[in-house]
Amino acid sequence: MKKIVVLVSGGGTNLQALIDAEKSGIIKGGKITCVISSKPGVYALERAENSGIPTRVIPRREYPDSKTYSMAILDALNEEKADLVVLAGFMTILDKCVTKAYTYKIINVHPALIPSFCGEGFYGLKVHEKALDYGVKVSGATVHFVNEEADAGAIILQGTVDVKRDDTPAILQRRIMENVEWKLLPKAVSLFCQDKIEISDGKAYVKE
Ligand code: GAR
Repeated sequence: MKKIVVLVSGGGTNLQALIDAEKSGIIKGGKITCVISSKPGVYALERAENSGIPTRVIPRREYPDSKTYSMAILDALNEEKADLVVLAGFMTILDKCVTKAYTYKIINVHPALIPSFCGEGFYGLKVHEKALDYGVKVSGATVHFVNEEADAGAIILQGTVDVKRDDTPAILQRRIMENVEWKLLPKAVSLFCQDKIEISDGKAYVKE
């Protein structure tokens, strides 16, 4: 059974999707053993506690820079003996001390079709604001491995939704979460836990 550590910063609907998927047997070969939040008091922590999952809070604002913060995260991941780290609405970019120690062992969900609307400054509702400003007709979400560059690691799964004329950022966000993120993140986690993701030439492929 692989140990899954989930990193969060907010409401935690993606965490909830993972918890539900574990309970219903959609996630095979893995178990969420710890949830770490970069902010105290967020609802994601309550979701974990409601399901009996141990939590830790490592507040980003208590560290002077990304490097020292990432070192604290690295210590926690090592202590938890994480086999897989899932960034589920985690709003801090991790330094290479973490991404190098956990190469192809960190999965992120990004609410756009990478390589569009991604990288530094593209997070949460801002991503959907920019997609609507641009006038794209489809958007979606990407589940990918995390490397030292923001939102640039190997893509595991992507899914799309149509963008409608009257969409607001919040409406588009919700459509993408419901139709793509909450389904593809648990699916990718399950594939990882069953060793069904193959890396070849820096790209990720699902094994048949
Ligand atoms: C989700 O849409 C997630 O894809 C996004 O923030 C939201 C968090 O919601 N993540 C990013 O923008 C990371 N770059 P949640 O806390 O309800 O899962």
